[in-house]
Amino acid sequence: APFGRRGSSPRMGAGDGRRDDGDAPTYAPPEPEPLPEPDVTRTLRARDVTAAPGSATTTNVWGYTDDYVGPELRVREGDVVEVTLENALPKVTTTHWHGVPLQNAYDGVPGVTQEPVDAGSAFTYRFCAEPAGTYFYHSHVGLQLDRALLGPLVVEEADPHVDYDREFVVVLDDYLGRPPEPLSEDGDGSGTGGGSGMGGGGMSGRGMGGGGGMGGMRGGDDRPPYRGVLANGRLPTDSPALAVNEGERVRFRFVNAASATEFRTRLAGHRLSVSHKDGRPVEPVAADEFVFGPGERYDAVVEMANPGAWQLLASPVDGTEAPARVDVRYGDADGAPRAPDWGRGRRLGYGDLRATESLGVSGSPDRTFDLTLSRAGGSYTWLIDGQAYPEADPLDVRAGEHVRVRMTNHSPVPHPMHLHGHFFRVGDARMDTVRVPGHMGQVTFDFHADNPGNWLFHCHNLYHLESGMARVVRYV
Ligand code: C2O
Ligand code: CU
Repeated sequence: APFGRRGSSPRMGAGDGRRDDGDAPTYAPPEPEPLPEPDVTRTLRARDVTAAPGSATTTNVWGYTDDYVGPELRVREGDVVEVTLENALPKVTTTHWHGVPLQNAYDGVPGVTQEPVDAGSAFTYRFCAEPAGTYFYHSHVGLQLDRALLGPLVVEEADPHVDYDREFVVVLDDYLGRPPEPLSEDGDGSGTGGGSGMGGGGMSGRGMGGGGGMGGMRGGDDRPPYRGVLANGRLPTDSPALAVNEGERVRFRFVNAASATEFRTRLAGHRLSVSHKDGRPVEPVAADEFVFGPGERYDAVVEMANPGAWQLLASPVDGTEAPARVDVRYGDADGAPRAPDWGRGRRLGYGDLRATESLGVSGSPDRTFDLTLSRAGGSYTWLIDGQAYPEADPLDVRAGEHVRVRMTNHSPVPHPMHLHGHFFRVGDARMDTVRVPGHMGQVTFDFHADNPGNWLFHCHNLYHLESGMARVVRYV
């Protein structure tokens, strides 16, 4: 068998290429608790592939399938799920189950919850799929998420609180392609790559496409880097289509799987009835659009009551790329799909969200962290409270505590902050990723420390994460 169970791994932490200085914290890998026999068994094979995000474009990426988006994993609430990750890449990898409050041993964070999976080796993840919701999975090594090692994970509820007839998953992503060139020695997608420029709104040289290089495009090798955004792995020029019938209600599950792009999202000719944030149910709230950052998810039900052909667009908030697009077409409506009118209507805010389930915590916290989010001087090192991961101190909590985290953003760019293993409360809603606006924006979240282990807390802008914007929440 080509895939050994767990090949001889370097010591914990070596796999992300940044923890070889001897000073960094190391974490003992947690012992997994056994789970019942699996209801669902799957294999994900991480490999080098040539994906075609458009009919005239191919790009070499690392993916779980021959596409820019990995296979949809769709399971039922309560299923015991077993996924074996086979590593056919030339480098180490892991898979993280973004948002799922699973046991720590299967969280997929190299150097924190597991040793990275060596090339040619395999690792089996196990979790109980609960609670129901819209999630995604992705590599948690270096910049591999930006190379297409990602896919949607849908946990269907036994009893949805909203009515709908069918659903459609929309995975939004960004990438930066380059002219074809051989992979350089360090072009392994696991280094810091100096690619942090995108977080400031610009592009920087190497690494944004993860070293994958665009191929098959017209032109010579002196073309500038091409940045683009994708809907379900497709460029706007080759947008996926959704055929609908008048009168049906479609539940969209929107996943922002981008590495550095916030999307402003709208469906022309229709209002959204937003029903879930990060998989957690909310009182349905009407909005014309929402903005979401990397790592966030929204579900929205749309009543198809306006026959025609319409564009569903996800426009980069801070960029000039053509918006990611899905064409929604009723029956035999013909003609070019109409674009949304961006100038009017109502944008969803976190303050509009009201959970329909318990908020998990109330009253005053047992422990509070006051954290600044900032950039070190003029460099591309991003800090949480003045420290850069992995050398940064853990944030220690005790099981059973109500923990409050207050964040103040001293930088001009927003940070989508994500906590592994837990949902937290923001206002009257629950979520696992929250966008902290730039220019002294402040967000406070509260959570119940009910899932022991070592859990990464970080900015989901991959370039910020890679250059230090993370801490470990450690149960002591
Ligand atoms: Cu999508 Cu550390 O997470
Ligand atoms: Cu950030």
